[in-house]
Amino acid sequence: MKEALEQLRKKAQDELGAASNKDEIQALRTKYLGRKGELTQILRKLKDISPEERPVIGQLSNVIKESLQAQIEERLQHIDVASRDEALTEEKIDVTLPGRATPYGTTHPITAVSREICDILSVLGFSVVEGPEVEYDYYNFEALNIPKDHPARDMQDTFYVEDDVVLRTHTSPVQIRVMEKMKPPVRIICPGKVYRPDSDVSHTPMFHQIEGLLVDKGITFGDLKGTLTYFLVQVFGKNTVLRFRPSFFPFTEPSAEVDIQCVMCRGEGCRVCGQSGWLEILGSGMVDPELYKTVGYDSEQISGFAFGLGVERIAMLKYGISDIRLFYEGDQRFLRQF
Ligand code: DAH
Repeated sequence: MKEALEQLRKKAQDELGAASNKDEIQALRTKYLGRKGELTQILRKLKDISPEERPVIGQLSNVIKESLQAQIEERLQHIDVASRDEALTEEKIDVTLPGRATPYGTTHPITAVSREICDILSVLGFSVVEGPEVEYDYYNFEALNIPKDHPARDMQDTFYVEDDVVLRTHTSPVQIRVMEKMKPPVRIICPGKVYRPDSDVSHTPMFHQIEGLLVDKGITFGDLKGTLTYFLVQVFGKNTVLRFRPSFFPFTEPSAEVDIQCVMCRGEGCRVCGQSGWLEILGSGMVDPELYKTVGYDSEQISGFAFGLGVERIAMLKYGISDIRLFYEGDQRFLRQF
């Protein structure tokens, strides 16, 4: 009996060694370990052998059964891994499949309008400079002739970072930074983000401005008028009607706001222009001599003009957008139109 068992173990192991696929191995499992399998048959005969031999044979058959089971499992697992590896190495790349398209975005309308404005002004010889968005109180207010407690500060609600550090409320501080660094002639524009704690259909806490500054010998208000007229005609079309309206800014003297005739109603008066027929487009003026004193320019020798405009406002008028907040909601249905 013991010999028969050993023989069976050897035969089973040889056959398992020779088996080369899953089906063959599974067939061997049935052949030896199945309900009618060879080992099972032998175990059934246990009751016929003598009580002394029974425990020995019983134990041996169990050992053989377990080791066969383990070997079969291991072979099956091996074959699984091997066939997966084979599948992987045999996999071919189908070069005729269409590629996976990368969805690409469009230029944000504010970026597009900013660039357009800078392009127009570059043609006139202005070069683009940038300044910091987190700015000293000194550059944002003080050096622009807006001392502490001056009522002009109320015109621009401000985010404070520290006592003397703010998020810039306009791009005008760049005027000072540039004049501190270079001697006239100066002819620069500065596009960038500015911040004010406001939020409604025409205000967002962050928005964009473009500042312009030209300082040279013999610059007059006529140069300011000519430059801004050319510029606005380029942006809004050759039939654009302009008016220069006296105004006040602490850093220009005299100051003027520039309006265009309402693009919606052509001056008739409508909701967009508040029935006035005119739209405010930008602030401007002749640079106040106080600023020259601050940066060490000789105001007897030179003169110049400055202007500042809101990019969102221009984009809204150009595209007929009635709520400024649409620019920053990230809604693709809106953004894809540009
Ligand atoms: N900085 C002003 C503002 O944000 C706009 C402005 C007005 C800029 C007149 C200028 C200027 O350069 O000359 O309200």
